[in-house]
Amino acid sequence: MPWTLVESANHADTQLELYAKDGIYMIRANGLELMNGFNHDSETAFGRLAAELAPGASPRILIAGLGLGYTLAAASEELAASGTISVVEFSAAVIGWFERHVRASVLPEMPKNVVIRESDAIAHLQSGARYDVILLDIDNGPEPFTQASNATLYDRAGLDLLRGALAENGRVLLWSGFRSESFEALARAAGFAVTRRLVANGPRPDLDHHIYILS
Ligand SMILES: C[S@@+](CC[C@H](N)C(=O)[O-])C[C@H]1O[C@@H](n2cnc3c(N)ncnc32)[C@H](O)[C@@H]1O
Repeated sequence: MPWTLVESANHADTQLELYAKDGIYMIRANGLELMNGFNHDSETAFGRLAAELAPGASPRILIAGLGLGYTLAAASEELAASGTISVVEFSAAVIGWFERHVRASVLPEMPKNVVIRESDAIAHLQSGARYDVILLDIDNGPEPFTQASNATLYDRAGLDLLRGALAENGRVLLWSGFRSESFEALARAAGFAVTRRLVANGPRPDLDHHIYILS
């Protein structure tokens, strides 16, 4: 059965499309797959890890990039009612798609400690808010994919911005579809300790997903 186009929208130079197949959704950015609900194990592991690493009884978690909400659902399930989860998503359309089409199967009960805001992640990080854990999943790794300006988040200035948005002992988690040794070196040069976890993505190790932990 082929994918069916459900809705599409533009955000600045980015064309976003929501597709459905057998009750599962996929988002494409500029014609390329950005998030596929048939393959969400690593996004779920990403959300669980955030809750696992979140310190104290009332951690503040930021998720940059709503997508289909699998990371949000996993973090929220693990965290239960403790702490707060703020989600920033630059596309009002993606937020609307989540509400109208996706949420019923991914996060049927919207928890009271979750807030979804329409905002660019970079602008939000400049707002002065601080978090114990910041999850970044706005591209397919530390390279711009959804929009060109996301590149600024992965250079030295972006890493400094992320550090400034962390509470004491906070961590940045970054989802990636590939290993980037140049990003690892840049993050170390910016003063972060960098570790990387592999999340198996089927029988081929070259297709494994990666979670970077910057602390
Ligand atoms: C790969 S998807 C996130 C997948 C998500 N982890 C999940 O579980 O479904 C990336 C999301 O980031 C959003 N996005 C891209 N650039 C952004 C930015 N600069 N600020 C906020 N959201 C952004 C996209 O619209 C998309 O919804």
